[in-house]
Amino acid sequence: MSFRAKMEETAKKKESRVVLALDFPFSNPEKREELLARAQHVLEAVHSYVCAVKINHHLVLPLGTFDGVQLLVTRIHEKGLLAIMDCKANDIGATNQVIAEYYYAAGFDALIANPFVGWEEGLKPIFDIARKLRRGVILLAYMSHKGADEGYGQTIYDEETGMKTAQYVSFAKKALRWNADGVVVGATYPEKIREIHEILRENLPIYSPGIGVQGGAAEIAFKAGARYLIVGRDIILAQNPSAVAEKLCAAAKHVKGG
Ligand code: XMP
Repeated sequence: MSFRAKMEETAKKKESRVVLALDFPFSNPEKREELLARAQHVLEAVHSYVCAVKINHHLVLPLGTFDGVQLLVTRIHEKGLLAIMDCKANDIGATNQVIAEYYYAAGFDALIANPFVGWEEGLKPIFDIARKLRRGVILLAYMSHKGADEGYGQTIYDEETGMKTAQYVSFAKKALRWNADGVVVGATYPEKIREIHEILRENLPIYSPGIGVQGGAAEIAFKAGARYLIVGRDIILAQNPSAVAEKLCAAAKHVKGG
């Protein structure tokens, strides 16, 4: 089963379209055990309200991929959830291949990559290894931060039509052509979600980070066409993480087919 299909199945089973971003602020690297325990504690508290967990440098850097993060990936799977690595792979193909091989070897079901690096000797090796191992690749289309416009919002010439188009429109079309498993569009830009959803329709899901702290709103993102929310600090830093996750999970139930 493809990663895309596994996400759909897991979301239905868990009745949630929330991806937990297991991100914590910097803490003393000598107290890594505490960080690992904290991550496990949050996972225990919220696993009923999420369908997947996304891990970023916040945990890979202090814990190490095979010393600490792999343990978390195992726990994530034991909870019936999928694990996504947000490495935003963006290097030459040979390096991207090694990045993907290590993260897939650690058990990740999918990783996030940056289409700016292109296909040949860029992202192609990641897609090749992902298909071989039946794992997923999710592509950035329009990021959630303020400066996203400088890259993802640039006007470019479409190589096929020779017409002017937006960079993010081109990335959405490439995600379809390359048979990616989804695209990331910031919840802080619902109009971009809408525009990209028009291109992708039901063929590819939109993952939307930027809820809460960054200013995005769950219901607006879903109404615009997001299929999954990616939420970190709003849950992690809350007094009661499970209550926040439960509320976000309920917002997702308004999605068509959710
Ligand atoms: P917060 O705390 O803002 O964290 O809920 C969001 C998480 O998602 C990552 N992030 C993004 N990842 N494309 C991505 O692939 C984006 O546009 C984007 N915006 C935020 C962020 O690094 C954190 O892990």
